[in-house]
Amino acid sequence: MTKILVTGGAGYIGSHTVVALLEQGLTPILFDNFSNSQEAVLSRIEKITGVSPQLIEGDIKDGEKLNEVFVEHEFDAVIHFAGLKAVGESVEEPLRYYQNNVYGSLQLFRTMAKHGCFRLVFSSSASVYGEPESVPITEHFPLSAANPYGQTKLMIENILRDLSAADARWQASILRYFNPVGAHKSALIGENPNGIPNNLVPYIAQVAIGKLSRLSVFGGDYDTIDGTGVRDYIHVVDLADAHLKALDALDDGHGCCAYNVGTGEGYSVLEIIAAFERACGAKIPYDIVARRSGDVASSFADPIFSEQKLGWKARFGLNEMMRDHWQWQSANLEGYK
Ligand code: NAD
Ligand code: UD1
Repeated sequence: MTKILVTGGAGYIGSHTVVALLEQGLTPILFDNFSNSQEAVLSRIEKITGVSPQLIEGDIKDGEKLNEVFVEHEFDAVIHFAGLKAVGESVEEPLRYYQNNVYGSLQLFRTMAKHGCFRLVFSSSASVYGEPESVPITEHFPLSAANPYGQTKLMIENILRDLSAADARWQASILRYFNPVGAHKSALIGENPNGIPNNLVPYIAQVAIGKLSRLSVFGGDYDTIDGTGVRDYIHVVDLADAHLKALDALDDGHGCCAYNVGTGEGYSVLEIIAAFERACGAKIPYDIVARRSGDVASSFADPIFSEQKLGWKARFGLNEMMRDHWQWQSANLEGYK
């Protein structure tokens, strides 16, 4: 019975990964403070897998609580999703972001080391590439961050590189996610953003159900195929699968290693709108407005290294991503309520 601690396991990507872990016969123990998720996700996970995983309510900043959990369970590895992720909010409340993401991660890593657990998969982001000089982006591109959220990811990555340089027992797979979208095919779990969504696909989905009236397309004058921003969207079920492969890769003794998790395909905002319209069978009204500050024209992954080293490759294409996102949204107009 291989036990995996999943911090932030009740969240969007965490819940999909928990389903994948259960389907592999592993035993995930979820640890979440519900700052951006609901306990209701547990019964949905049980409906999909037939198993109700253990969920511990707690905060990664709370070293004592983490210690209790490690005393109670012996973990083979940790998958560390817990973190705050809203870029705009991180600009307004940097202290909260550094405290939650960086201090919380330090508490986690300290507790892991104390209990002899040195195996970690960490949720990083393509935002650590800052403004890339070219696309596709390989793992060797220079790292920088344009906002406090991105800084927290970069700082945690650096901490992990330093830890594994100092002590060869540390094995960390850093996954740099591009743009996760979609939902489990059951439509029982999916993304459930608080308030007005910041990200493109959740916003479009709420326009499609009539919760929001129109989409603002941020910028129509980029140097891209139609002037709108290009991104690498990745189905969350493919992303969940990458975590299983990243766990396996910890056995290679690679120390600390970063992997891009994207499809390698870039799609513009207008292409995403068109694909979502095909999925939901309705028009998405939109206006092209000014660029959003901090946005880059084009960002997509070179996924070759992940394919070679992890044996992982995205299976789902754009139409499946939009279909599954729409099925989740239309079946859950109020999220998990
Ligand atoms: P999410 O908000 O749905 O999930 C994060 C979970 O962590 C939530 O359930 C939240 O309640 C929990 N959490 C936050 N702070 C915590 C704390 N101090 N203690 C315990 N639990 C805490 O977000 P997600 O989209 O599933 O993202 C998961 C991870 O992936 C995050 O670290 C995020 O930064 C990273 N990431 C996400 C995206 C994306 O677009 N969704 C892209 C790149 C990286
Ligand atoms: C954003 C974050 C990034 C984070 C990622 C995943 C910023 C600057 N970057 O990336 O750090 O890792 O989310 O959570 O916020 N768009 C619109 N209208 C909208 C929303 C978005 O036109 O209402 C456009 C954007 O300009 C962009 C594309 O859609 O071209 C994708 O945007 P979004 O979903 O917010 O993701 P990113 O900006 O790539």
